Amino acid sequence: MKAVISGVGAYAPEDLLTNDELARMVETNDEWIMSRIGIKTRHILKKKGEGSSYMGEKAVKEVLEKTNTSPNEIDALICATVTPDHVFPATANIISDKAGIKNAFSFDINAGCSGFLYSLETASKFIESGKYHKVLVVGADKMSSITDYTDRATCPIFGDAAGAVLVEPSNGENGVIDSMLQSDGLGRMHLHQKAGGSVKPATHETVDAHEHYIYQEGQAVFKWAVSKMADVSTDMMKKHGIAPEDLDWLVPHQANMRIIEATAKRMGINRDQVMINIQKYGNTTAATLPLCLYEWEERLKPGDNIILATFGAGFTWGAMYLKWAYNGKE
Ligand code: UT7
Repeated sequence: MKAVISGVGAYAPEDLLTNDELARMVETNDEWIMSRIGIKTRHILKKKGEGSSYMGEKAVKEVLEKTNTSPNEIDALICATVTPDHVFPATANIISDKAGIKNAFSFDINAGCSGFLYSLETASKFIESGKYHKVLVVGADKMSSITDYTDRATCPIFGDAAGAVLVEPSNGENGVIDSMLQSDGLGRMHLHQKAGGSVKPATHETVDAHEHYIYQEGQAVFKWAVSKMADVSTDMMKKHGIAPEDLDWLVPHQANMRIIEATAKRMGINRDQVMINIQKYGNTTAATLPLCLYEWEERLKPGDNIILATFGAGFTWGAMYLKWAYNGKE
């Protein structure tokens, strides 16, 4: 039995943050951001009192509606996020409650920008076990809540969004074929949030020192991201004998256009085989992969060879090979 993605939903807030607006906030410009990162706009959740679950709920409701699935049928909901509504309880519990999902267990996975892939792997194994039949995987991040808009090195990168997929069993050939996931905790030095956890709870000093925002050593992260995401993706192709021309889609984490291009180059594939929407959304952390699948859904056909690839905080990285299971036009 294989696990298949049977539907996709997504949500990005209406409000846009443009490069010109950023240039009025910090010393930067459109030319630098486009050439170094490749982002034109990001969506920002400005609604007061709402967090990642607000976006996750909308993505979940859409995928339930598109797949004609009742909330009562869901066995489990996994939410990947680094910006949970609260430290506890899990944002997954809040999304389930808001979406009327009452017969499921739900929990969060924190694996940085690889969170959606880690969660999809977990959901696939639940499905393959035969015990669970309908599992929702959500990637939801309100990155604007931990972005320092006085730090020009990080503030152009991130945006807010959520995406959700329904995972179900199938006896056919299509579905999740393989995955390779890895992490290296040494990477925590280069990408983390300094305060707000149990090591350094919030104080007036931590707030004054901007320690509740993303801390990133961009160049170090960049080098790791390029080599790990490209290596794991090419390893997956070699392992399954996928020639570059046989790959229908690479769905890479959208952190930096240059990282995406380097990964595609190493895999020997063309740009038109790669889902890229970083220009519109920026890096939405756990939401980048489902947001790509959502935007490309109409072009996806049963049997399409797809590799999902990520790199993120932890460090965490990985690739998944799947064969798409349905005609996205229908
Ligand atoms: O999703 C999680 C994983 N995260 C990633 O994959 C991110 C990986 N890192 C990156 O994408 C890139 O390292 C960044 C986009 C963060 C930065 O790009 P970079 O090409 O590595 O720039 P840099 O940090 O080496 O900075 C180059 C120059 C510096 O000036 P000097 O020292 O050469 O005079 C920076 O101060 O660019 C300057 N700079 C800026 N200039 C204009 C840094 N940020 C900006 C800015 N506007 N926003």
